[in-house]
Amino acid sequence: MKKYKYLNMEKENGIGTIRFCRPDQLNAMNRNFMNEIILSLAEMNDDDEIKVVILTGSGRAFMAGADIKEYATQTDAEFMDFQKRGVKLYEGIEHSAKPYIAMVDGYALGGGFEIACACDLIIASENSTFGLPEVHLGLVPGGGGTQRLIQKIGINRIKEMLYLGGSYSAETMYNWGIINYITSKENLEEKTFEIAKKLTRRPSAAIGQLKRLANLSTSPIDFDKRIYDEGETVFNLFKTDIAKELINKFIKK
Ligand code: COA
Repeated sequence: MKKYKYLNMEKENGIGTIRFCRPDQLNAMNRNFMNEIILSLAEMNDDDEIKVVILTGSGRAFMAGADIKEYATQTDAEFMDFQKRGVKLYEGIEHSAKPYIAMVDGYALGGGFEIACACDLIIASENSTFGLPEVHLGLVPGGGGTQRLIQKIGINRIKEMLYLGGSYSAETMYNWGIINYITSKENLEEKTFEIAKKLTRRPSAAIGQLKRLANLSTSPIDFDKRIYDEGETVFNLFKTDIAKELINKFIKK
């Protein structure tokens, strides 16, 4: 695994972990840090030994958003470039055939919350804090915050988050259906790795298609086309050796 300045990468038993490591700045994401995340996602996605990827933070934060201090020094062109490049980051998670888990302990704000929301599952410690505070800077989120959550939590709740820019507890996010599990700080890793381990045991081809189809369900493509796609997909999977093997194994049992 490559070495980076702002993050650490690990892999063990089919589980890849990317840990954001800028704890003194609450893992605020500057340009170089964003580039490192994009490169590390590509490395995880290209590694056939890795079946599931965990994104996590260090210190008091998952990530407290984009680096506001760097924003203050950026020219318009640099700011635009940062926003455009960000698209690659979110695509690296959403377009991957591998499941991504955000393991959140502490602040997940702005871009940090958007990165967590791009993941397939979010598992958070009970002391975590979520929010989209960009309005306080006179901005709007640039990483999908206005678009990705509407179908998940409904338009009135997302408008409240965006307009007021408040902070929300893990419990509220759980009740709103955004996070999958809340644990104590001590049990966070154990719970996350338990789920990740289960995912490594599922057939990769089926998981990849499940992710693609689940994401497709929120797209504006015609329902009829999406249902047709599902039918084609199950047929294509049916023809694979792994499906034949698992079906026969079930019958023998
Ligand atoms: N960008 C740049 N630096 C950030 C940052 C960000 N998004 N979030 C935190 N930091 C830095 C602080 O400037 C501080 O650095 P310093 O020690 O060099 O002064 C360090 O991280 C610790 O943060 P601090 O604000 O002292 O901690 P806190 O516990 O008092 O407050 C937060 C925590 C998360 C409430 C507060 O840091 C915050 O509001 N951050 C900005 C969140 C945000 O607006 N994100 C969206 C950005 S578009």
